[in-house]
Amino acid sequence: STVPRRRWRGLMITAAVVGGYAGYIYAWRENLFSLQKDRENKPKLVVLGTGWASVALMRRIDTKLYDVQCISPRNYFLMTPLLPSVSVGTVETRTVVEPVRPLVGTNIKFLEAECVDIDPEKKRVVCQSTPSIDGSQTNESQFSQRDVADNVGGSSSRRVHDGARTRPPFELDYDVLVVAVGAENNTFNTPGVDSHAHFLKELPDARRVRAAISDCFESASIPSQTEEERKRLLSFVVVGGGPTGVEFAAELSDMVHEDLSKNFPQLDRSEIRISLVEALDQILSMYDHKISEYTEKHFDRENISVLNSTFVKEVKQTEVVLQKRGSPEKDSLPCGMVVWATGIKPRPFVNSLRKRIGALQSNPRAVVTDTYLRVMGAPTMYAMGDCSSIQMPKVGDAIANLVPEDTKELDFEEFAALLKDRMHEYPQLESYAEQVKASFEKADLNQDGKLQISELKSLLDEADKLLRPLPATAQVANQEGKFLAQHLNKIAHGSDEEDLEPFRYRHLGSLAYVGGDKAVIDFSGTGVLQKFFGLEPINGRGAFYLWRSFYLTEMVTLRTKILLAFDWLRSKLFGRDISRV
Ligand code: NAI
Repeated sequence: STVPRRRWRGLMITAAVVGGYAGYIYAWRENLFSLQKDRENKPKLVVLGTGWASVALMRRIDTKLYDVQCISPRNYFLMTPLLPSVSVGTVETRTVVEPVRPLVGTNIKFLEAECVDIDPEKKRVVCQSTPSIDGSQTNESQFSQRDVADNVGGSSSRRVHDGARTRPPFELDYDVLVVAVGAENNTFNTPGVDSHAHFLKELPDARRVRAAISDCFESASIPSQTEEERKRLLSFVVVGGGPTGVEFAAELSDMVHEDLSKNFPQLDRSEIRISLVEALDQILSMYDHKISEYTEKHFDRENISVLNSTFVKEVKQTEVVLQKRGSPEKDSLPCGMVVWATGIKPRPFVNSLRKRIGALQSNPRAVVTDTYLRVMGAPTMYAMGDCSSIQMPKVGDAIANLVPEDTKELDFEEFAALLKDRMHEYPQLESYAEQVKASFEKADLNQDGKLQISELKSLLDEADKLLRPLPATAQVANQEGKFLAQHLNKIAHGSDEEDLEPFRYRHLGSLAYVGGDKAVIDFSGTGVLQKFFGLEPINGRGAFYLWRSFYLTEMVTLRTKILLAFDWLRSKLFGRDISRV
């Protein structure tokens, strides 16, 4: 009797395995079938760009709900905050690059091209392919420091034309368009910048800066150089005391302190001069003033000269022309190389898009969106990242809608209760609630502690005046990309857009590396973090370890996290490699 029982058991197991497998195959085929059917009906989502905002969106968008196509002249995502480290060889170029195709997955189609025109009426984009584009600003026709950096190294300057690779222009229809094309360097039309200064915005810029630094040291080492020429070659000028300029000056100074004597023992360190020129009266002016003060003192110790309240009026091949605020005289500062980091301006493509949309796009600095990131005046078009700016609804203007008609006066608690349900319409209120409360306390209240509605309106108008556009940072772009992916997924699931929560930026702090294994972190405006860490900004070595662990976690894939950790270890143990390759 045990034999038939065993046979039964065997049969049942076999039936279960075969049945399970057949079910799996059936489900798989069903799924495939439904996906194919979906693809035909799915809305076409076209994403322009492969920066912080677009990549954050593409990693979260549900490709079962949208047929996603990405167009960008750069087929990789760049970890931009590490560019200063790349430019002095602390971090290798490949560490800061994530190829976009594996990053966003095979369900998203990527085309390496540049969108040159958008037709919002026909919902169509016109694209042009530019095989040699590297995403950086170059001006091939003029002699420049960049050309020097590109053409050095003997045979590497040979240009190879290995076959014709033309890419005809093409057009794409869209149902939903996301514009996240970033911005470009702002030179404020300062003469000579395009020809003689380096930018630090794209990877090729960092590579050129690295080659140019190497070139300065190699040229200064030639024994027949005059003392004057050697000092000029060893003078580095950084223009712009924002985070980019500060971090580059810091990394360069580290390299000089830590690696110069190993590589160029014949050069005298005291002859090297790093100057940071800033038009305002302090560097890192967007940060807490204690951070600016700390950084200036620290730079003084590190022998970086900070020239505050000084404008660079012109960049020449061997010098920069400076002018102190309020002084009619101009000075010249001889230099071997110049890094220009004075901020950003909109790309010409963004300007023509704004003009095409018309009256609602009145901000000359960016594409204006509402709090859902919808481009004003262009339905089904969204914009995010450095190319866009959110227009907050003014609470002062909306006071009539907020307060019932017969209300003549109210106290703060009543006002807060009224706002509670409408808070999502005014994302800025959270940030200036404290200020409104303080104004309420200072205002001319009657004996019941109430405020006239007309006075309330002027108070809110004042608060509205404090509204600042969000800064053009990776943090903002990343949060916008995440938001828009979730938002579009919800819409595709049938939610009404107006019922959804608008975008709300949560500031997590600002941080910058200032050299000598020290960093600064500003938690102001971060809410919870500020309460946890206190109001004081953090600086020094503790901040440096926080800065490093933050970037390690921010690296998008495990591959680049490992590469970054090894790069830091490598440069600590064996020094930086600034050889020109
Ligand atoms: P920025 O706009 O923050 O700073 C540019 C600085 O250049 C300003 O302080 C300005 O006064 C100065 N300037 C302008 N014209 C000048 C002239 N002719 N001569 C001398 N100085 C002049 O630009 P940055 O540093 O490139 O940053 C761009 C954006 O990226 C910012 O929003 C910044 O916060 C963000 N960023 C953040 C980083 C971080 O958090 N670690 C790192 C790099 C950038």
